[in-house]
Amino acid sequence: MQSIQIDRYGGPEVLIRRRIPVPVAGPGEVLIRISHSGINFMDIHTREGKYATSRTYPVMLPCTLGMEGAGQVVATGEGVTTLLPGDRVAYCIVWGSYAEYAVVAAWRVVRVPAALPLKMAAAALFHGFTAHYLAHDVARLEPGTTCLIHAASGGIGQILIQLARRCGARVYATTSTPEKAEVARARGADQVVLYENGRFADAIREATGGHGVDVVFDSIGKATLRDSFRATRRRGLVVNYGTVSGPVQDLDPIELGEAGSLFLTRPRLADHLPDAQTIQRRADAIFGALLDGSLKITIARQYSLDNVAEAHAVLETRQMVGKPILTVSASA
Ligand SMILES: NC(=O)c1ccc[n+]([C@@H]2O[C@H](COP(=O)([O-])OP(=O)(O)OC[C@H]3O[C@@H](n4cnc5c(N)ncnc54)[C@H](OP(=O)(O)O)[C@@H]3O)[C@@H](O)[C@H]2O)c1
Repeated sequence: MQSIQIDRYGGPEVLIRRRIPVPVAGPGEVLIRISHSGINFMDIHTREGKYATSRTYPVMLPCTLGMEGAGQVVATGEGVTTLLPGDRVAYCIVWGSYAEYAVVAAWRVVRVPAALPLKMAAAALFHGFTAHYLAHDVARLEPGTTCLIHAASGGIGQILIQLARRCGARVYATTSTPEKAEVARARGADQVVLYENGRFADAIREATGGHGVDVVFDSIGKATLRDSFRATRRRGLVVNYGTVSGPVQDLDPIELGEAGSLFLTRPRLADHLPDAQTIQRRADAIFGALLDGSLKITIARQYSLDNVAEAHAVLETRQMVGKPILTVSASA
């Protein structure tokens, strides 16, 4: 089968299109013919080696990239009772979706409702699950909560705005351009400001009567985190869930005290998808909202296995608005 692998870490040049054997489903696993794969910033981080020593997401080289896929079950391993060949399914946080087939533990796989196109399922799980646990389990947003969402026109940003609004929160958002700000507004953000080298923090304080917001969702890291502290109210919560601008390596906890006894957390999706029941609960919420029209996900662009490098470059240069996906095969 065709796959996109890395043998070493680096820029887009390390991506290799390679023919490898179709994997075999072992006990408790299913073999899925992938129709579409989600393309995530995490794939870039992985390609660059940022997960080289991770215990949450251990990488073995050579590694077939891609952490999110949708398609059809073609074989089940011993002991699998929840899925059958022919089932339309999706999954995330298992490497190997930039390929024609993938083997995944059955407990991580959910059925895709008949009315939902597989490409939408491939675009929805990784970012949808993330926005869901951030809004409901980490920040516990409720009516009246104020929050700030960075990179608001991005894949997670757009979903998080919508979920936060559904919780009754007031949503402030940041983007790098006025065009992206329009996207965030269209998704429901109450007020959008540009980062302006950290001046967003002053704008947010002003908009909140000098207090700052209850919660900041910061996926950017190095370039924004300290200004995110300034945008947070006394004893508020800063959720640093990504580091697209680079890691924050020199943070002294005393800074949290000086910023108003803030709470800082660095959560990971894997710790919020511990079992099949939780995965199904989050999938029901995301698929259900997509089907009833209350959640919109923009598929920004579709790529093929031949142009993964281009997809990564567009993401890295901040030109993507919404979610890119990889069309692997039209057959499922
Ligand atoms: N902790 C978790 O559970 C979890 C789960 C999923 C993803 N993540 C992380 O969340 C982050 C965002 O992932 P995503 O897939 O949703 O990406 P994304 O938000 O769709 O895209 C990245 C966005 O970040 C902004 N950005 C700011 N500085 C940037 C820079 N130096 N380079 C590139 N983009 C920059 C850009 O928006 P503007 O131009 O508007 O700034 C860009 O659109 C990644 O670090 C990813 O690993 C974490």
